[in-house]
Amino acid sequence: MESLTLRASPSTAAPLRRVPGRRHAAVSVRASAGSGEPDLSVRVNGLKMPNPFVIGSGPPGTNYTVMKRAFDEGWGGVIAKTVSLDAEKVINVTPRYARLRADPNGSTKSPIIGWQNIELISDRPLETMLNEFKQLKKEYPDRILIGSIMEEYNKAAWHELIERVEESGVDALEINFSCPHGMPERKMGAAVGQDCDLLEEVCGWINEKATVPVWAKMTPNITDITKPARISLKSGCEGVSAINTIMSVMGINLKTLRPEPCVEGYSTPGGYSARAVHPIALAKVMQIARMMKEEFADGQSLSAIGGVETGNDAAEFILLGADTVQVCTGVMMHGYGLVKKLCAELQDFMRQHNFSSIEDFRGASLPYFTTHTDLVHRQREAINQRKAIRKGLESDKDWTGDGFVKETESMVSN
Ligand SMILES: Cc1cc2nc3c(=O)[nH]c(=O)nc-3n(C[C@H](O)[C@H](O)[C@H](O)COP(=O)(O)O)c2cc1C
Repeated sequence: MESLTLRASPSTAAPLRRVPGRRHAAVSVRASAGSGEPDLSVRVNGLKMPNPFVIGSGPPGTNYTVMKRAFDEGWGGVIAKTVSLDAEKVINVTPRYARLRADPNGSTKSPIIGWQNIELISDRPLETMLNEFKQLKKEYPDRILIGSIMEEYNKAAWHELIERVEESGVDALEINFSCPHGMPERKMGAAVGQDCDLLEEVCGWINEKATVPVWAKMTPNITDITKPARISLKSGCEGVSAINTIMSVMGINLKTLRPEPCVEGYSTPGGYSARAVHPIALAKVMQIARMMKEEFADGQSLSAIGGVETGNDAAEFILLGADTVQVCTGVMMHGYGLVKKLCAELQDFMRQHNFSSIEDFRGASLPYFTTHTDLVHRQREAINQRKAIRKGLESDKDWTGDGFVKETESMVSN
């Protein structure tokens, strides 16, 4: 296991934003791995983290106690549960979660592979959350705390929220443009992330106000996720996070004929997460990473989310180009200590390939995605080449002096 060395070094912090006037990181959290150990530390938009593992916004970042626990266990960063100006408008219901098990009959002994929630953003008063952010930054000045925010379609409200959350000392902001359920009538969450015109306008408001790095969190519930990602980055966001949950109906209770999770006999579509969404998240992250590589200079960051429970899951996201990897449902199922397993498994993977740092393999698998037409072309070429080798020479006139031995070999059967 790596050992963490925490150091405050405000003067050496690198610039975070390309936008003039924005605040720079006042942190330097370093992972000093033992000699020869793969180094998991990352630097993202100027923020230094001992490892790429970040608590994804949700229950694992919902109050001071649990966020403190995340820092104590060694998470690279924490993204708090999404906050808004008026928590009184947020009214949650229970039950709000439903789970899918691997066994088709739902045996409780079989592993959980899918998780649905109909949970809204934080229902705790903003002032309470901000005081807790302040307290955490006081106790853990070198650790990365990211505020997740969401507001109505109102410039003044967004500006007020950004100002107040920044005052609490957070290192960056993640904008929840992706909450799939609740409050679309107030143009919040996915209602903005699914409408590129609205998104461009709201990103403009946010980026004219924010002085810390801004990550725009994408919804997968859209035909082409590269469109909102491109608009967010063009509008000045430093990074993109993907994915939030996938719109889902977990199931119908065949005894009561009512949908799950069932609240007073009724339900509403929710957001799907956990292992089952990992392949979908990989596809979305791959599409965004390709777009970023083609259209944006290095510097913008990508935070991958969706179904991470092992170091190998994280390695896959990093191989596609992710700078950081978020985990939400995995923590709800396995607890905060999961980060130790994630780090150990990621280091095992790095050792197998002799990678000494995350940058050694970040994006390494991305060039191997292509179009189906290109796959057909490549396969035809490969078959032709194999046929040519098997066939050997068609005529004695084709023998050459330089290739004589190879030409002979090509006609030997064993
Ligand atoms: C119960 C629950 C609550 C969530 N609440 C939020 C939230 O407040 N803000 C947000 O941006 N994402 C929220 N998410 C989405 C997660 O941050 C994450 O994007 C998604 O669950 C996929 O990652 P996972 O498979 O690691 O959970 C929530 C997810 C769950 C399961």
